[in-house]
Amino acid sequence: NTCILVGAPMDSGKRRQGCRMGPDAYRVAGIAEALGDLGLEVRDTGNVSPDAATAPQELPNHVFAPDEMIGWTSALARAAEEALPQGIPIFLGGDHALALGTVLGAARHAASQDRPLFVLWLDAHTDYHTPQSTESGNLHGSPLGYVTGRDGFHGFPEVTHPVPHENICLMGLRSVDPAERDDLQQTNIRYHDMRSIDETGIARPLETFLRDVAAANGMLHVSLDVDFLDPGIAPAVGTTVPGGATMREAHLVMEMICDSGLMTSLDLVELNPFLDDRGRTAQVMVDLAASAMGRRVFDRPTRAYS
Ligand code: ARG
Ligand code: MN
Ligand code: MN
Ligand code: MN
Repeated sequence: NTCILVGAPMDSGKRRQGCRMGPDAYRVAGIAEALGDLGLEVRDTGNVSPDAATAPQELPNHVFAPDEMIGWTSALARAAEEALPQGIPIFLGGDHALALGTVLGAARHAASQDRPLFVLWLDAHTDYHTPQSTESGNLHGSPLGYVTGRDGFHGFPEVTHPVPHENICLMGLRSVDPAERDDLQQTNIRYHDMRSIDETGIARPLETFLRDVAAANGMLHVSLDVDFLDPGIAPAVGTTVPGGATMREAHLVMEMICDSGLMTSLDLVELNPFLDDRGRTAQVMVDLAASAMGRRVFDRPTRAYS
């Protein structure tokens, strides 16, 4: 099993800067060593650079850094498509806008394999905006809108293989804009806000989703936003929302993903090292990636999801 580390030092998805330091923070926190200790082959391909691009006039004026956003999206989609045939890419962000590119690339790759793509979105936010619906103009709030094929992303690469809503599962929600909520409720996307996780626990809805991925022989892209976690354990993020996942819930999710054997790509996003406290958030994210790739206390019989 090969892990391919792909740095995406991207800060174009929002106005507050600092996520561009994320890839190096993960390297300093020892992500390659942690994965190597699990017996995996690890290849660090360095950092991606954005393509040169110019946004068309049709994009609303309040959209932040539209040229850079388009350039990152095409470059990262290509990087994902190149890495996926060789192993499991782990995208070191960078803000969540990198997922416009990584999920686009994963969707293209899955289509080339004649397999459906599923997406697990671990986040306080739904990130379902379009350039028209976003009030902030920060496109890190829009990757799920883009990859599901919503209109309005003028100048961005065409989404030739939109991810079906029913293949997407959101977990950890506790900050959803009214426009996103209304639009999402028109779809059959799966979502679990913190209240429902408090009621059911996090394992049950996740297991249901993983079973469906397995039954469809799907590929699974996991997108982990730092703000999925409670800010008490992960302070290094610009969009802190109280009441997030605990350390134990987050590790359980990662361990179940690992047991399923289904994950084909992973984003680690929104780490802002400028806001960290002696590297502890970077370390938590590295530990979660290690859990997703096989770190455990005791072996358990592998769980069959199909
Ligand atoms: N919904 C808010 C907005 O559009 C916040 C989005 C936060 N997204 C994120 N990836 N942290 O501005
Ligand atoms: Mn997000
Ligand atoms: Mn978020
Ligand atoms: Mn749909």
